Amino acid sequence: MSKDTLTITDNRTGKTYELPIENGTVRAIDFRQIKVSDDDFGMMVYDPAFTNTAATKSSITYIDGDAGILRYRGYPIEQLAEQSTFLETAYLLMNGELPTRAELDGFVHAITIHTMVHENVREFIDSFRYDAHPMGIVVSTVAALSTFYPEAKDIQDPEVRKLQAIRLIAKIPTLAAYAYRHRRGLPYVYPDNDLSYAGNLLNMLFRMREVRYEPNPVIEKALDVLFILHADHEQNCSTNAMRSVGSSHVDPYSATAAACAALYGPLHGGANEAVVRMLQEIGSPKNIPAFIDRVKAGDVRLMGFGHRVYKNYDPRASVIKRLAYQVFDEVGQNPLIDTAIELERRALADDYFKERKLYPNVDFYSGLIYQSMGLPMDLFPVLFAIGRMPGWLAQWEEMLRDREQKIARPRQIYLGSDKRDYQPISLRG
Ligand code: CMC
Repeated sequence: MSKDTLTITDNRTGKTYELPIENGTVRAIDFRQIKVSDDDFGMMVYDPAFTNTAATKSSITYIDGDAGILRYRGYPIEQLAEQSTFLETAYLLMNGELPTRAELDGFVHAITIHTMVHENVREFIDSFRYDAHPMGIVVSTVAALSTFYPEAKDIQDPEVRKLQAIRLIAKIPTLAAYAYRHRRGLPYVYPDNDLSYAGNLLNMLFRMREVRYEPNPVIEKALDVLFILHADHEQNCSTNAMRSVGSSHVDPYSATAAACAALYGPLHGGANEAVVRMLQEIGSPKNIPAFIDRVKAGDVRLMGFGHRVYKNYDPRASVIKRLAYQVFDEVGQNPLIDTAIELERRALADDYFKERKLYPNVDFYSGLIYQSMGLPMDLFPVLFAIGRMPGWLAQWEEMLRDREQKIARPRQIYLGSDKRDYQPISLRG
């Protein structure tokens, strides 16, 4: 008869243990009873990079990496990209349900009236070096926001948490745009409350001397869809950083700064920038075979390909590929697209990529769209951070409400020296 348990025999002692299975999972702590002697600490599980460890139960995002499925709160990403807006999706992620008209209006209003940042923030962005990477500015300024809202420390109060979440979603585009304008030596543009979330970001990035900035509706819509596609992705590196740092009960600005820092890395949110640099380096479709040989030799990675979870086409990449052509129809073809298409075609036909189930991920085409919108490469991870903000906040909220969560603190297997006595420097060889 089948039972929801796992029986383990420890061949060192001959003892047998029966562990309960819940949701297809056994609890790592149940292994601790497996000991060779009474003073044995007990067995642990070893899982560098958490490749097979669930660190939480979650109801936010579902991914089936083999089937190429991504859903937020049960809704397929393709439907949200097609029919929702970024702020509606943000509400869904953070509250669990799609909003009514009144709820959505209230949420959009709350975001819109919190887009300004304190003038001191503008001033200290000014003091960054003229060529500071915008992501470095964003990591620092998000952290600095905690000093403007000291009440944010009260993370046990749901209303306080809600207000900080609104502030973070509202202010991150402002910080992003200021970081960009600083780099360009342009005056900062204040938020325009009459524009949409994406439209206002375009206004703060690109407005020059015009009395009123009118965003291009195709670009505005494309940006909004890109934000939806990036809004959450379950326990990825930056979300894990948000949860892990947040588990110390620090304020959400500090935890979000940690998430932004994780996103900055080239293996995570920095990949879209790395893809464009890679395509520029390849230069033209005729150089692709030689580049693929270098990838297969292990000299370089094919950026924008491969994913820890997806072993199939990333569903976000399919939406982005279609979106890219809508943007190109509006602003002109990105000259790198031919190289990208041919690179994808050749890689998907190559045994190296087939055997390892390496497919294009969300970053393979997103950088080309951003570039066609006139955005510099080092702003790409910042745009990713804007999109991911509601996901980080939803995951942080879920973590704080989860009675099983505690401060995150992994174990280690110590393989260093045994006890040895200190030698004065004069006696060391
Ligand atoms: N190019 C060439 N080979 C690759 C690539 C790649 N992009 N990705 C994985 N491989 C190979 C890897 O060398 C290994 O081969 P072998 O078994 O012979 O040693 C095998 O595939 C498995 O790779 P892995 O490094 O164990 O896979 P991982 O799950 O640890 O890494 C990844 C996932 C996303 C870090 C990796 O695929 C990668 O570096 N991709 C390029 C960077 C990128 O596009 N990142 C964006 C990810 S999507 C957005 C986000 O979540 O931030």
